[in-house]
Amino acid sequence: MTYREFVPSELPLKKRHQLLIGAILPRPIAFVGSVDAAGNRNLSPFSFFNAFGANPVTIGFSPAYSGRTGEAKDTLNNIKATGEFTVSIVNHAIVRQMQLAAGEYPPEVDEFELSGLTPLESLTVTPPAVAESPFVMECTLKQIIELGGEPGSGNLILGEVAQYRVAEEVLDDKGLIDPRKLDAVGRLGGAWYTRVRDGLFSIDRRQTDVAAGFAALPEELLTSTILTGNELAQLAGVATAPTADAVTGPVRAKYGGLSQDQRHYEIQALIEDDHIDIAWMVVMMGQR
Ligand SMILES: Cc1cc2nc3c(=O)[nH]c(=O)nc-3n(C[C@H](O)[C@H](O)[C@H](O)COP(=O)(O)O)c2cc1C
Repeated sequence: MTYREFVPSELPLKKRHQLLIGAILPRPIAFVGSVDAAGNRNLSPFSFFNAFGANPVTIGFSPAYSGRTGEAKDTLNNIKATGEFTVSIVNHAIVRQMQLAAGEYPPEVDEFELSGLTPLESLTVTPPAVAESPFVMECTLKQIIELGGEPGSGNLILGEVAQYRVAEEVLDDKGLIDPRKLDAVGRLGGAWYTRVRDGLFSIDRRQTDVAAGFAALPEELLTSTILTGNELAQLAGVATAPTADAVTGPVRAKYGGLSQDQRHYEIQALIEDDHIDIAWMVVMMGQR
């Protein structure tokens, strides 16, 4: 890679923010419900959001001080005042209504009404969640960590989840969330979003918790111009690399007499077809 180098503190705030959100992605979106001391409802999306622990269930998100005015967002003020909030997961069906709710409206504006979303009465806290969301969490404030106190600075809000509510419609027959049914969206940089179910792939964890690693790979593979890092990682993922005695007669007969490049193409095809054991035998045929 050829890198351009930047010291964030030397960049204009806008550019710092653009690089940050253009690279740390996709970011899940917390659609945060809160109320002020007088009970006025508020609903706003935040993609500086994640989960941080399961015992107790702890989530965090970060409403920044406005980059333009330095003012605190209503969500931050409300949570400071009441110590409670809800987080609703944003799926593709409500992404445009979420966008409507993101406008910077005065505190008295109810973004549930503005965006046409339905308040879902919570079981354990005062702020409602979003009834159209397939997964909602009711949260109590644990801690607010102020990350600078300047325009654009974050305020990391950590909350403990007192209640989950999961729509039956997104569960599989084992009671687990099916990512295709949840249909969550994530935020990227600029105006970009991603729809999780369009980009799904899985990585088989069947092999081992402790892999042999790249140290087990012969030099010939490490310097191969044919095999990629992802392919080599699948060979390196076995618990122990087989020895040359492991090569069976039929494999020797089928893959004997090939050039090194030809062998690497055969290994590549075997990995592609998920025949890691045979791929390793073909590797060992090159080790004499
Ligand atoms: C998808 C999305 C993600 C956002 N993520 C954040 C974020 O992580 N932090 C932030 O301060 N603002 C974020 N915003 C902007 C806030 O939603 C926006 O400032 C909102 O008006 C704040 O509302 P409030 O003042 O009612 O709390 C995001 C906007 C969108 C559309």
